Amino acid sequence: MSTFAVRVARKTREAESICSYELVPVDGAALPPFEAGAHVDVHLPNGHVRQYSLCNAPGETHRYLIAVLRDAASRGGSQAMHDAVDAGTILTISAPKNHFPLVAAQRTLLLAGGIGVTPMLAMAETLAGQGAAFEMHYCARAPERAAFTARIGSSSFAGQVHLHYDTGAAEQRLDLAALLAAPEAGTHVYVCGPQGFIDHVLGCARASGWPAAQLHVEYFGAAAVDTGGDRPFDVQLASSGRIVTIPAGRTVLMVLAEAGVDIPYSCEEGVCGTCLTRVLSGEPDHRDLYLTDEERAANDQFTPCCSRARTPLLVLDL
Ligand code: FES
Repeated sequence: MSTFAVRVARKTREAESICSYELVPVDGAALPPFEAGAHVDVHLPNGHVRQYSLCNAPGETHRYLIAVLRDAASRGGSQAMHDAVDAGTILTISAPKNHFPLVAAQRTLLLAGGIGVTPMLAMAETLAGQGAAFEMHYCARAPERAAFTARIGSSSFAGQVHLHYDTGAAEQRLDLAALLAAPEAGTHVYVCGPQGFIDHVLGCARASGWPAAQLHVEYFGAAAVDTGGDRPFDVQLASSGRIVTIPAGRTVLMVLAEAGVDIPYSCEEGVCGTCLTRVLSGEPDHRDLYLTDEERAANDQFTPCCSRARTPLLVLDL
């Protein structure tokens, strides 16, 4: 996977526990262009790789802007960004990837929870530039925890953005059940934020009968999975017939790497899809957030960085 170096030109405190990082090319060349919804993999000083949405205006190639919430519950990615990355730091990043692209629609509804505002900002910039019909709802715990409100307030789309604070008066809270009360043909809904926010939005939308094809979700961070009942299982490499046992508590990706079988990977938490591997037989226990429900049901591929097996053996196309 191609990576390149960027320099942190500016680190800015955007809100309580949220900093933005302006990344510029070290060699002065243009950065690869990106579209709204794209993210980059950032290789952190502590060795972790994390995904961050690009939140500057798509079309800019002289810089990328990302924002990171310091999350005490995270596995170290956000803390490393806050503590070990400053103006002047050189970071290695991937080219932009987009699992959350805008699709053509009569109307677009952008629903952001907390730090999930980042891809929505790029989407709002794009939709505003196109003169498209859209509305954005940005939910945060409190004004001091809402990033980019000044940028939104001075943007051309300020009038299309509604801010909702958990600490605010009841009448300004987002009434999702009302907003999504009836599916609208031609309207596409995008949601990004903490898992609880995403679940709430999707729950309301599904309860009202919104078709899955009109709902678009961006996940960051691994799903909470109960690993207490994990058992060992075997994987077989179809090319050689070799069988490798995966113990409980270890990933297929790492055990195979130790066995000399290198599968490309990035996030190691089932988000990016880099490690996707074909399954020839056996049933995977999907634990990723990357595959769609239909793709999971097909059981012909899985993410070995986090997924396991429901059957004693998985035969892999390796
Ligand atoms: S490495 Fe990202 S999904 Fe497996």
